[in-house]
Amino acid sequence: MSATTVTPAAIRPGVLGDLPALTEIYNHYVTGSNATFDVTPFSVPDRQAWFDHYAATGPHRLLVADADGEVLGYATSSPLRPKPAYDTSVETTIYCRPDAVGQGLGRRLYEALLAGLAREDLHRAYAGIAVPNDASVALHRAIGFTPLGTYREVGRKFGRYWDVAWFELALPYAKPRS
Ligand SMILES: CC(C)(COP(=O)(O)OP(=O)(O)OC[C@H]1O[C@@H](n2cnc3c(N)ncnc32)[C@H](O)[C@@H]1OP(=O)(O)O)[C@@H](O)C(=O)NCCC(=O)NCCS
Repeated sequence: MSATTVTPAAIRPGVLGDLPALTEIYNHYVTGSNATFDVTPFSVPDRQAWFDHYAATGPHRLLVADADGEVLGYATSSPLRPKPAYDTSVETTIYCRPDAVGQGLGRRLYEALLAGLAREDLHRAYAGIAVPNDASVALHRAIGFTPLGTYREVGRKFGRYWDVAWFELALPYAKPRS
């Protein structure tokens, strides 16, 4: 797949009309990679509940990168766990279209997501990365996430077990000095 230039992409809250594109991006990684532990691709209607839960958590919790109406990637923030004492912690995720990776879009999306979270009473963000995933580990480190530890062989996909490395970020987000 040839690369799409991501420079003009605007970062904005996701809307229902984005759902087919969001589902297509996600399904690419469901079927072809260890980036998610879902194993069966979603139909767009099946993905509606996932989309709807962001309406309750806030529009800035699902951000998309939009280049002239084409969704090139998205980043999300969800409650880490349902019990109330966890309310100050979130889990973040990010997926870019395969032809839009490696051009700084992940960093832009993540920084916008974290800036939006600064409006909320939040204390920690967590990201679980099924490894190996050099791009995701590099992005999280570049943003300022620090490694916590690894769940060994916690998931099985494509007939083998995968480790998940967990990363943590203090909120509100302060961009690391370069
Ligand atoms: C992981 C992902 C979101 C990163 O987004 P991206 O747009 O490709 O990353 P960026 O271009 O913004 O790069 C961010 C940083 O990671 C580094 N990086 C990017 N790809 C890399 C790679 N393959 N290997 C090593 N470093 C890499 C960049 O150099 C950059 O560092 P810097 O800002 O210090 O220079 C994207 O590659 C993706 O969608 N991958 C597939 C889905 C996925 O794995 N999602 C994460 C699930 S945990």
